[in-house]
Amino acid sequence: MSSVVLRRLAITCRPTTSIYHGRTFSTSSPLFTETNSSHNSNTNTTTPSSDAPRTVTLIPGDGIGPEISNSVQKIFEAANVPLDWESVDVTPVKSPDGKFRIPLRAIESVTKHRIGLKGPLATPVGKGHQSLNLALRKQFNLFANVRPCKTLEGFQTPYTNVDLVTIRENTEGEYSGIEHTIVPGVVQSIKLITEHASMRVCEYAFLYAKLHKREKVTVVHKANIMRLSDGLFLQSARNVAEKYPEIKFEEMYLDTVCLKMVQDPTQFDCLVMPNLYGDILSDLCAGLIGGLGLTPSGNIGENGAAIFEAVHGTAPDIAGHDKANPTALLLSAVMMLRHLNLTDKADRIEKACFATIKDGKVLTGDLGGKSKCSEYTAEICRRVKDSS
Ligand SMILES: NC(=O)c1ccc[n+]([C@@H]2O[C@H](COP(=O)([O-])OP(=O)(O)OC[C@H]3O[C@@H](n4cnc5c(N)ncnc54)[C@H](O)[C@@H]3O)[C@@H](O)[C@H]2O)c1
Repeated sequence: MSSVVLRRLAITCRPTTSIYHGRTFSTSSPLFTETNSSHNSNTNTTTPSSDAPRTVTLIPGDGIGPEISNSVQKIFEAANVPLDWESVDVTPVKSPDGKFRIPLRAIESVTKHRIGLKGPLATPVGKGHQSLNLALRKQFNLFANVRPCKTLEGFQTPYTNVDLVTIRENTEGEYSGIEHTIVPGVVQSIKLITEHASMRVCEYAFLYAKLHKREKVTVVHKANIMRLSDGLFLQSARNVAEKYPEIKFEEMYLDTVCLKMVQDPTQFDCLVMPNLYGDILSDLCAGLIGGLGLTPSGNIGENGAAIFEAVHGTAPDIAGHDKANPTALLLSAVMMLRHLNLTDKADRIEKACFATIKDGKVLTGDLGGKSKCSEYTAEICRRVKDSS
């Protein structure tokens, strides 16, 4: 193994501030009500009152990103949400070492405000700069990706009563970015699993389950094949489970989960898993409730940083045509409001969005309607204002 690879491994393995010993999640979010207040952080993690304006970093993103971000901003304005937006561009800039990186202004903005809403970002395939989504996750140590998948009343899919949440380890595993060519035609990719990151995400999953009154956590793995790496993740989940006897704990192979999920998703509640499995399984779960256009997500980090994002891509085929469905970004923004304890505003916006979908008269093309993104947005704004 080359020295470059070893060095990168060492850097990736170096533990950051341990958060699972003594549970030191430092954020105001209801996701972390059990915050250890002794945690020393100079970040803005005080619980905001519901009328204190707070600034949120907005990354509109590429393709349809600016259209759906604009839609969210309009709906927030209609609901008088006490937030200011700081919009930043994350188009990579070339640094002196020749590498492309996230612009400093974007990093400074998230570092300062510690809360962001992000539209989709285009990723070049197999060349150019690395995935900006990955770079943001690494930059802000966004260790858990949380995706609630709940059946939307009035929106028909082959499945009913789906109500589950996938929690994906977001910083390592197959997406550690440690790849190299051994000889031309032979490449190697290293799946890195650490006890630190595994414990951290499993601890988060159990805490999330407890705070959200979920009854069961299923750890998804392939420890029968990847005995060391998935074995460590599984053991970490077992260790954390012991501390939560009130929550049912289940271990299941990834392939078995996929089979059971499409047969009857109602048997699942909260699922925690390594990075790649989470990437795939969370999209599968989104499909059960109507697709990526309806599914919100949040990336939760250490020290209170969190970035909420739509999980679909930039939809270049419809970008600029006022056809995009802004629901996924809007529901991600609703998750963000709950994270900021702005629950009343979150409930009001969510209700207006669900009522619009249930009514079925003003829907974008992907939901079977003929309306434009701007018309759908205006309808949600009208309902939000009517509910005040
Ligand atoms: N989180 C992210 O930033 C993210 C996620 C996935 C893909 N991407 C990037 O997006 C680009 C395009 O990827 P892709 O084409 O594979 O996937 P995509 O999600 O952009 O598009 C797939 C299909 O779904 C439709 N679609 C997606 N979102 C929609 C919405 N909100 N409303 C209506 N229709 C919608 C598109 O029109 C397209 O037909 C790539 O560069 C990819 O790397 C980014």
